[in-house]
Amino acid sequence: AARLFAEGPLAGRRVLITAGPTREYLDPVRFISNPSTGKMGLALAEAAKAMGARVTVVLGPVGEVERGDYEVVNVVSAEDMAREVLARVEEVDCFIASAAVSDWKPETRAAQKVKKSEGPERLTLVRTPDVLAEASRRVSGRTGRPALVGFAAETERVVEYAREKLERKGLDAIVANDVTAPGAGFGVDTNRVTVLTRDGKQRDLAGTKREVAHSILDFIKDYLPPRAP
Ligand code: CTP
Ligand code: CA
Repeated sequence: AARLFAEGPLAGRRVLITAGPTREYLDPVRFISNPSTGKMGLALAEAAKAMGARVTVVLGPVGEVERGDYEVVNVVSAEDMAREVLARVEEVDCFIASAAVSDWKPETRAAQKVKKSEGPERLTLVRTPDVLAEASRRVSGRTGRPALVGFAAETERVVEYAREKLERKGLDAIVANDVTAPGAGFGVDTNRVTVLTRDGKQRDLAGTKREVAHSILDFIKDYLPPRAP
């Protein structure tokens, strides 16, 4: 039977998660993207739900994936993702940015398929919005603002670069991920990460993405705003 009231450490809490890649189209049939499958973000959604939270996932294009009992908002580009996140971030208790957002997009998008004989030899790219940084700016300084959690996919100097991102984006915690380490990275079912917090805590976590998701939420739940009386 369905339970009327959620139970668990995140009961009644609202959690917003970005997951998957984004696509930045240069014409109707070509885009820039990355190999993210959204698995870590969806594992977080599943875990947050199991801990009692009301969960919304803003999800880039990932094809067929198993979806659990949470709201999914499908998006394509970084700009779409930014719009959907900014429309919701002020209403939540925790925002977790696990998406692999494309940092650049083609400067122009052709309305029709570009023929190879007419194609540009060089593609001019411009920066996309930083979804997490914009969300952070939007809520910063507010009482009861959501906990802000980022991911940092790195290939070198993992902890150092992650800490710098935590500070630059005004986060409470960041999940640092060496995407070249065995048993980590895009598409695989396991992950090994280091969680860093703004107050200097550091914890290594490893296991299936499902286990790691539970451990991450367990570790960051102390950074949520106080519950309304
Ligand atoms: N992020 C985002 N929007 C972007 C780029 C990144 O929301 N346009 C978020 C990611 O979801 C992640 C965090 O910012 O939570 C860090 O992403 P990452 O790509 O590691 O860092 P960048 O700030 O983009 O820096 P770089 O890629 O140069 O290392
Ligand atoms: Ca990036």
